Amino acid sequence: MNLVLMGLPGAGKGTQAEKIVQKYGIPHISTGDMFRAAIKYETELGLKAKSFMDKGELVPDEVTIGIVRERLSKDDCENGFLLDGFPRTVAQADALEDILTDLNKKIDYVINIDVDQSILMERLTGRRICKDCGATYHLVFNPPTKDGECDRCGGELYQRADDNEGTVQNRLEVNIKQTKPLLDFYETKGYLRNIDGQQDINKVFSDLDALLGGLQ
Ligand code: AP5
Repeated sequence: MNLVLMGLPGAGKGTQAEKIVQKYGIPHISTGDMFRAAIKYETELGLKAKSFMDKGELVPDEVTIGIVRERLSKDDCENGFLLDGFPRTVAQADALEDILTDLNKKIDYVINIDVDQSILMERLTGRRICKDCGATYHLVFNPPTKDGECDRCGGELYQRADDNEGTVQNRLEVNIKQTKPLLDFYETKGYLRNIDGQQDINKVFSDLDALLGGLQ
């Protein structure tokens, strides 16, 4: 099961990836998570990525493509993978084709979680994440039982550095510009499947699950 999850910032990629990984047991490869981990541990990659992420800009293609090539070559991707947030430009999509050809793999589906742009600011500024287990919540749409505390592990919830209104605005503008050519690229190849991301979180997953069930 070789999957790519697409969608504008806040569309629900991370939320649904967690559920897909739990059910289908494939590794979740999120370039955003990889960059955030590198920033946390102050690696060279983290230093390169931070200035772009803080502004809501894309990290340059050559940096991003390199880390994905390395990650997809690992043994745990042998039976499948779920790419989340990559590719984000046509240059990245071209590079992914080359990487997969080298690894003798092909994409099954590129799943686009489709939502209207107008709801994304509220989704992102209200998002809270557990600092211990990474579970995602929303102050209104998916609140934790206890304020500021993770239901799953009791960890403290925090707000991502790029989830402030100014940075979200720029992230949305940057991603909206890149999305159309990328969707056209995958439509032409026949990989693209659209899922309505404006439904309840569990209903979005049940649509995804119905699609993925067909691959087994
Ligand atoms: P990344 O971490 O990938 O962020 P993003 O694309 O901006 O997406 P998000 O993680 O913000 O949103 P999501 O779709 O996962 O939404 P979530 O499920 O959390 O990238 C961050 C940065 O890294 C980029 O800006 C860039 O700088 C860099 N980067 C990453 N990849 C790159 C690449 N390939 N090339 C270059 N640079 C790259 O949901 C959001 C909120 O909504 C949550 O609170 C959730 O609870 C809620 N929610 C989810 N689904 C629903 C629903 N159905 N109904 C109601 N609420 C919902």
